[in-house]
Amino acid sequence: MANNNRFPVRFKNYKPYYKTKFGRAFLADSIEFIRSLPEESVDLIVTSPPFALIKKKSYGNESSSDYVQWFIKNFAEEFMRILKPSGSLVIDIGGSWKQGSPTRSLYHFEMLLNLCSKNVGFHLAQEFYWYNPAKMPSPAQWVNIDRVRVKDSINPVWWLSKSENPKADNRRVLTPYKASMKKLMKEGYNEGLRPSGHNVSNQWGKDNGGAIPPNLLCYNEIIEMMQQDNLLEIANTISNDKYLNKCKENGIRPHPARFPLLLPLFFINFLTEPGDVILDPFGGSCVTGEAAEAAERFWISSEINEEYVFTSKYRFMAK
Ligand SMILES: C[S@@+](CC[C@H](N)C(=O)[O-])C[C@H]1O[C@@H](n2cnc3c(N)ncnc32)[C@H](O)[C@@H]1O
Repeated sequence: MANNNRFPVRFKNYKPYYKTKFGRAFLADSIEFIRSLPEESVDLIVTSPPFALIKKKSYGNESSSDYVQWFIKNFAEEFMRILKPSGSLVIDIGGSWKQGSPTRSLYHFEMLLNLCSKNVGFHLAQEFYWYNPAKMPSPAQWVNIDRVRVKDSINPVWWLSKSENPKADNRRVLTPYKASMKKLMKEGYNEGLRPSGHNVSNQWGKDNGGAIPPNLLCYNEIIEMMQQDNLLEIANTISNDKYLNKCKENGIRPHPARFPLLLPLFFINFLTEPGDVILDPFGGSCVTGEAAEAAERFWISSEINEEYVFTSKYRFMAK
């Protein structure tokens, strides 16, 4: 794997498990590891922490009730310290059901309120929802057997920022205009006040190079976004397939809770520029690293389970 002497962050007491041109992957407990990172050295933390699920996953979860305190105590202040003032924290956090009850846990909202409390100090820049229609109906008791709940098909994703004005540019994540918008741009608008109160000016018909995406992130729309300009190349070079094939070849069970690659990639493009530093402290199979590598951002991944770190190398192998 490539060596890069110009890595923008210095690591005290930790040696990477492996390096790539833009990345450093560590086998470490992030509770300790992030304490060793310099102040204001990271532009974006994008991560999916172990969720507080009813059924414990093989990679270990804190129970719902302890989860928020565990996260706040061990990570929140350190995240604030290592982020640059213009930096952001993006957390993909699965919702959860209460044990034995067809009602939802509020832990992810508690987590949000705690992260944005005076003690911690994050700002809620915007909430996003990742729409995954392929999610399994669960818990089966309420959805498939008693039929009293419907399929849960979104993951909340909190975009939090250290300051009120984090680095962000939605021009880096535009999606192609829909046919109806193209028609309007060609044929023009009726300017004036709408019943909704919006005042439609002649600026609405201007071609700005693409549509601003909504905060409901859908796989197909992100694929369309990737088809814009230079992002097409990235979309073509990344996929979970190489990782999955190599795991299969070597008889290894793939990581059970991987990100969709497009999720970190969307935020990396939206919130950072080439040369910025991205951290995933719950690195898992290093999907964030792969997305950052493709987008030419420096990345740091830290993961506590050696098998996950070892197999994450598959993502960066030539074949
Ligand atoms: C939801 S998974 C992340 C999956 C990852 N986003 C991917 O796409 O492969 C959470 C990961 O956090 C790891 N983890 C849990 N506690 C940790 C800790 N204290 N330090 C580092 N990693 C930890 C788990 O082993 C697990 O791989």
